Amino acid sequence: MVDNSSPRDPSKANGATRDDVDWTILESVSPHPGDLVRFVVEKTGLSRQAVNKRVSALVEEGLLEASGATKARQYRWRPLVRVPLSEGLSEDRIWRESLAPRLGDVSANVRAILQYGTTEMINNVIDHSDASELVVLLKPLEDDIEIYIEDNGEGFTQKLVRELRLENAQHALLELSKGKLTTDPDNHTGEGIFFTCRMCDKFMIWSRDICLMRIEGSGFFVLDAPESRPGTTVRMIVRRDTERTPGDVFDQFASAEDDYGFTRTAVSVVLARYEGETLVSRSQARRLLARGDQFREIHLDFRGLEVIGPAFADEVFRVYQREHPRISLSWDNATDEVTKMIRKAERAFASESGSD
Ligand SMILES: Nc1ncnc2c1ncn2[C@@H]1O[C@H](COP(=O)(O)OP(=O)(O)O)[C@@H](O)[C@H]1O
Ligand SMILES: [Mg+2]
Repeated sequence: MVDNSSPRDPSKANGATRDDVDWTILESVSPHPGDLVRFVVEKTGLSRQAVNKRVSALVEEGLLEASGATKARQYRWRPLVRVPLSEGLSEDRIWRESLAPRLGDVSANVRAILQYGTTEMINNVIDHSDASELVVLLKPLEDDIEIYIEDNGEGFTQKLVRELRLENAQHALLELSKGKLTTDPDNHTGEGIFFTCRMCDKFMIWSRDICLMRIEGSGFFVLDAPESRPGTTVRMIVRRDTERTPGDVFDQFASAEDDYGFTRTAVSVVLARYEGETLVSRSQARRLLARGDQFREIHLDFRGLEVIGPAFADEVFRVYQREHPRISLSWDNATDEVTKMIRKAERAFASESGSD
C-alpha cells in the first residue's frame, strides 16, 4: 500500500522554496567543488552575481559549506551529523532530531524507507564498527534523496573476513548479499543491509577499495570504491517518486507458511565469480549456495553471466537439490547458453529422483 496522503512539492523540499538554479547548484556541487559558480553560470545562463547569491543562501541554510579564499573557494555538502561514538549515542535519536526534520515534503513511503535504512546503518556503526566518529550527510536533490553514513572503524569487509573466516573481501560481499549474515548472532539477525539495499533505488557500501552496489532493476555489482576511505561508507539513494514501501520489500522475502518470517533469499550469481573467471567448478557452486540451508527458497539471478559450465550447473541443480530436498530453487535472467546448462542439470535431477 502506498500512502499518498502527504502531498509532495519538490520545490518546497526542506521547507524552503527551491527554484531551478538551486537544484542545479545542489546537483553540481559534488562534481564541481572548485568551479561550482562558473559551472552553474554556464549551465543556466544566469549572471555570476545571481548564482553567487543562491550559493550563499544554500550555505546560509546549512546545506553547503565553503572553504578557501575567494579565488580558490571550494564548496561541498555540509555534514549534518559529525559526532564521536560515545556511550548513549542512539540511532533513533539521530533520525528523529537531525534527519527527519530536514526531509521536507517527502511522501510517507520514502520517509519510511529512509528511516529504516538510516537507523539500521547507524546502528551498524554503533554496534559493529569500532569507530571513533560517525558522519551523516543528507543530500536532498530534486529527484532523489541521498543519505551517506560514514565511519572510521575497521571496515565491514575486513570485519566479516576476520570474524567469519571468509576468503577475502569479495567473498564477504557475496555472503552479505544473501542475508542473515552477522558477526553478532546473540544480538543481531543479519537483516539490516539485506533489506536496506533492496528498499533503495541505488545502494552502495564500501570499505577501502572494494564496493558492493545494488541498483533497483539491475541487481548487484562489485566495483572499485569511488574513493578509498578508512572504515565503512554507505550511500543510500531513494527516488522521491518511488512507490515502494518497506513492507513491499519485507513481503518479497517472507512466506505465509513461516509466519511471514525471512525465509527467502535472492542471490546475484555473478557475485560468486572473481574477475576474469567463468563459473565452471563445483567449488564455485558450493560457495554460491553456502548457508543456503538458512532459507526455504533461494532465487538465483543469472544476470550478467554469458555462460556457466556443466559441473557448476550440475552441482547447483542436481547435487545441491538432492542434498537439500526441502529447499526450493528458482532462477531467472539466464542467457540461452546458461538456460541450456540449467535445464540439463534439472532434467538429470528429475530423472534421478524418479519424477521424470
Ligand atoms: N559500519 C560497519 N562497520 C563494521 N562492520 C559492519 C558495519 N556494518 C555492518 N557490518 C558487518 O556486517 C554485518 C551485517 O550487518 P547487518 O546486515 O546490518 O546485520 P546485523 O547488524 O544484524 O549483524 C554485521 O554483523 C557486521 O559484521
Ligand atoms: Mg545491522
